Amino acid sequence: MTECDLNDVQALDARAREILLLNDRGGYTVPTDGLYPYQWNWDSMVAAWGFAAFDLDRAWQEVERLFSGQWPNGMVPHILFHRPDPGYFPGPDVWGTAGRGPLPSSGITQPPVAASFVRRLWEKDRGRPEAEALFEPLLAWHRWFMEWRCEGGAIFVTHPWEAGRDNAPDWDGAMAAIEPAGVQPYTRRDTAHVDASMRPTRADYDRYIWLVERGRRLGWDEAAMAEGAPFRVADPGMTFILMGACRDLAALGRGLGRDVAEIGEWIGTLERGAESLWNPAIGAYDGRDLGTGAFAGALTNASYLCWLGGVDDERMLAKFDGMLGRVPYPVASLDPADPRFDARRYWRGPTWAIMNALIGLGLAEMGHAAQAQALRRRTAQLIAEHAFAEYFDPLTGAPAGGGTFTWTAAVWLAWASPRARGA
Ligand code: DGY
Repeated sequence: MTECDLNDVQALDARAREILLLNDRGGYTVPTDGLYPYQWNWDSMVAAWGFAAFDLDRAWQEVERLFSGQWPNGMVPHILFHRPDPGYFPGPDVWGTAGRGPLPSSGITQPPVAASFVRRLWEKDRGRPEAEALFEPLLAWHRWFMEWRCEGGAIFVTHPWEAGRDNAPDWDGAMAAIEPAGVQPYTRRDTAHVDASMRPTRADYDRYIWLVERGRRLGWDEAAMAEGAPFRVADPGMTFILMGACRDLAALGRGLGRDVAEIGEWIGTLERGAESLWNPAIGAYDGRDLGTGAFAGALTNASYLCWLGGVDDERMLAKFDGMLGRVPYPVASLDPADPRFDARRYWRGPTWAIMNALIGLGLAEMGHAAQAQALRRRTAQLIAEHAFAEYFDPLTGAPAGGGTFTWTAAVWLAWASPRARGA
């Protein structure tokens, strides 16, 4: 951002605040109008981080609204359907979760970034009753992960949407093994909002819906769904995010005078699990199909979340330095040298500001200040040049997907802006 003068920065800060307010639906935030009209789990927690730059009360409210949808088993759904909206598919009727949780919701979860952002809110705003009240719900959600989504210490997903990286190559093998027979006829809504070349394919969608229909048939009962589960892929993204979130939750717990021994055990387990995701063939952390044991062979932006998890990996640092020199607008969601790379298609190439922020926070925490700063500056440049898009072409910086996007605005306010204080 060195070329950008203070007036530009002030204008961008103002626009980012405006976007958060524009996407505010009264206590919770939608990712963007039209394409995503409900409260999405990790988008919303990033929104809270962004609100914390100018309105702490509103930031806490965002977190409370998300946890108002927590299921009795501890799971926090990936979407809360606060109000009906015919513009989105699959809506509450397709998920069929009635009776499982307090609000209409989806039946799967999303990356557990909440504890990391709650810790940041609390550090700015100690003594708030909200932090006390959220500690047990956060602990229950992490415990649910360790009970239902952990194998050999790695966190796996039961649906690509659970990872938040919907069409990443990590899932290709397990997705190809699904024969989506009997899926009810449906009409996609996403491609009415965004060009189809920027979205998952029809083959992906059939399988997404097939998996939702299976969950609904089994009443979203985790024990029943685990039997003969057709899709279980260990994810470096989820594993490192939960590791980082456990460290943050433990710090919060200690600050609140709580017993955090259980969290310490989870961190040890996850550290062992992360090692099982190291793929020597590509020299990086990689997704692994638990059905076949096969790695995806994909260097993604999730591979670089190791530092966020507290794993200081020199091998990944060397890779990261090389990548910064090669990719014009880092971090690509898939290495551009991979034959599966597709510069505009969602999680198969584009750069996502939120992933950059998570990578950057991890780098800074592990003491790699130069790399953290470089990534922060280049993310700021990308947003300053191409505005608050959902994601960006890593080769040209061109905006893609939805516009006026909540988490891109939040990342700007909390981390990328030269005036950000929340990093
Ligand atoms: C979608 O609808 O594309 C979402 O990513 C699902 O969470």
